[in-house]
Amino acid sequence: MKVGILGGGQLGRMLLQAAANYDVTTYVLENDAHCPAAHLCHYFTLGNINDFDTVYNFGKNLDALTIEIEAVNVDALEKLEQEGVKVYPTPAAIRIIKNKILQKQFYVDNEIPTSAFHITQNKTDLAKYIQFLPAVHKLGEGGYDGKGVQVLNTETDIALGFDAPSVLEKKIIISKEIALIVAMDAKGETIIYPPAEMVFDPVYNLLDYQLSPAKLEEKQLWKAQAIARKVVNGLKSPGLFAIELFIDNVGDVWVNEAAPRVHNSGHHTIEANYSSQYDMIWRILLNYPLGNPAAILPSAIVNIIGAVGFSGDVFYEGLEEVLAMDNVFVHLYGKKQTKPGRKMGHVTIMSSNYSDLTHKANKIKHTLKAICK
Ligand SMILES: Nc1ncnc2c1ncn2[C@@H]1O[C@H](COP(=O)(O)OP(=O)(O)OP(=O)(O)O)[C@@H](O)[C@H]1O
Ligand SMILES: [Mg+2]
Repeated sequence: MKVGILGGGQLGRMLLQAAANYDVTTYVLENDAHCPAAHLCHYFTLGNINDFDTVYNFGKNLDALTIEIEAVNVDALEKLEQEGVKVYPTPAAIRIIKNKILQKQFYVDNEIPTSAFHITQNKTDLAKYIQFLPAVHKLGEGGYDGKGVQVLNTETDIALGFDAPSVLEKKIIISKEIALIVAMDAKGETIIYPPAEMVFDPVYNLLDYQLSPAKLEEKQLWKAQAIARKVVNGLKSPGLFAIELFIDNVGDVWVNEAAPRVHNSGHHTIEANYSSQYDMIWRILLNYPLGNPAAILPSAIVNIIGAVGFSGDVFYEGLEEVLAMDNVFVHLYGKKQTKPGRKMGHVTIMSSNYSDLTHKANKIKHTLKAICK
């Protein structure tokens, strides 16, 4: 089978690493010839994943297509789907998720618990909702890695809001942020991965480190699993989906957002679960049985983020020290240049002991740095 991936970042790179186990010819479309996925695919096409003609021409001779980012040209994918190309996730599901306004409306329509919200068209609209604060303002389209998300606590913060169609949602008092990955095959069969629990970096709003399986009360886990399945059933699309959820201060569970693709909350599944998220989506695309999502051992993920004060050719300080640690797996994404906050790689740690995981995660965070020489 000939399968194309829209986007050539680190998620595409890890998709291709998993594809190497199967009988599949891989194609990648990305507008950077040196992107992380470029040299791992069979055929690379330089082009804009948001351009109709580029996406259509890339996909028209392929058997199947998937994505590693949702900011793609959905109209072209829809035409390809009509012409018989298998597109997983479906263009209809991507269309809902890629726009946060449509995504929130989808949750309401499907009675999926999500924080209350208003839609704002521009900055002046925000003035109507002073009583609604504290809230979180989210750009409808084009945000990524926490850019496009702005907390508005008081009236004076309104100046920080977005001047484009956005969602203003009630700020939730978060006790835990978790993510659940659900996969659905063409027959509608689903599997669900154990939950992952995140801790965020307050400076960059990027994932700081993550533990999996998350330690949750049984009732919260059931609620979260039921919600995650409801999201995927509502989208009615084969593929792999990551559902980000909040557990609030009284134990209620809310959907934050969904991603219709492999996700940074599932990096650990490469080593720590029987079938990784990357393996799972290939099974679905190639029409094979679903894999086993269960954890082999508990795990942690530490992201390697470009250090503050360094921009230019990357050097990984402390790499040898980390590679010498037991049950620690380093993934560098092949990005030549670092800059503050850029995702350069991640490290997975496996251990049966959670305090060993946190101890090693902290050690790695303080040892391994993406800097310039
Ligand atoms: N309603 C809310 N109440 C409280 N905190 C929130 C709310 N919405 C978002 N946040 C915080 O902001 C973070 C980023 O929000 P969100 O996941 O919607 O944005 P994003 O740009 O898609 O981020 P990413 O790409 O990192 O997942 C969340 O992980 C959470 O910590
Ligand atoms: Mg998010």
